[in-house]
Amino acid sequence: MARLENKVAIITGAGSGLGREAARLFAAEGAKVVVMDVLGDRAEATVKLVTEQGGTAVAVTADTAVEDDVVRTVRTALDEFGKLDIMWANAGVVSRGGVPSVAGGEELAFEDFPLEDWNNVVNVNLTGPFLCAKHSVKPMRENGGGAILVTSSAASMAAYHSISPYSATKAGVNGMVRGLSLDLGRWGIRVNAIAPTHGMSPNFLMEPGAPVVGKSYEEAAGPWDKGITPIPLKLDRPPTLLDHAKTALFLVSDDAAYTSGQVVSSCDGGTLARVSIPFPEDQGTPTL
Ligand SMILES: NC(=O)c1ccc[n+]([C@@H]2O[C@H](COP(=O)([O-])OP(=O)(O)OC[C@H]3O[C@@H](n4cnc5c(N)ncnc54)[C@H](O)[C@@H]3O)[C@@H](O)[C@H]2O)c1
Repeated sequence: MARLENKVAIITGAGSGLGREAARLFAAEGAKVVVMDVLGDRAEATVKLVTEQGGTAVAVTADTAVEDDVVRTVRTALDEFGKLDIMWANAGVVSRGGVPSVAGGEELAFEDFPLEDWNNVVNVNLTGPFLCAKHSVKPMRENGGGAILVTSSAASMAAYHSISPYSATKAGVNGMVRGLSLDLGRWGIRVNAIAPTHGMSPNFLMEPGAPVVGKSYEEAAGPWDKGITPIPLKLDRPPTLLDHAKTALFLVSDDAAYTSGQVVSSCDGGTLARVSIPFPEDQGTPTL
């Protein structure tokens, strides 16, 4: 039997990257998927991909940081599909500063970091998951339980240059899921986080609305040479978005029925120290 048979899932930020890949995987595993993204054309495009592969999905244009938008997203799941089993608060943005494309082509010194940019990254990455969790509890309780998943990051656990506001939001996510797992377990609601390391979406570092790449950084970089990659696991192929989506699939499925309050590093997160400490044998500068 498919692993998400008869399940209804919301995925935020599902118009690109990990969310888009997961919408396809979850639908292939039997879930009916609410594809939410702040960019409506992206959400619609993901729904088209899902329906073309024989799955069921509906698009919602919404901002995860806006409470009414999250309420409307949950309402769509209930109205269209009758219940809510899975809420994946996946949407996230990087803070300006360490990423020239996001900072308008310039590095931004921390002492110049605008308060409005701090507020934006906190609103999307931390308030967003708070709102998604908050508005999932009632329908999940009525449903006899459910699974809440939040996308964290390796940056919540290891130091990366120039993105400390982003790291702060993702570390906040880790704390929230641990606390919520204790509060919500009695209702059969599990709460976990997935913390991706390598194999993620280049769109994350591009301007909003850029064409969706649909590959990981490492796949997009060209021919794979495990000898020169700074990735610690020297496996025979590059890490992919699908690798992370499969970890998420496990966490939201009944296979993880007794897993809650966990922050699971996906892909090669088991060797996180290697991305923050420059060991002499490292070659090149690790990227996000
Ligand atoms: N790409 C990386 O390097 C990386 C690494 C670790 C963790 N992450 C996390 O993974 C998650 C998914 O990102 P991705 O890598 O797939 O990036 P992505 O940019 O490809 O996809 C993110 C999607 O979220 C949408 N979005 C942005 N703000 C939103 C909002 N306020 N409300 C609703 N949707 C919104 C975007 O339009 C986009 O379609 C994020 O939480 C990110 O922080 C990314």
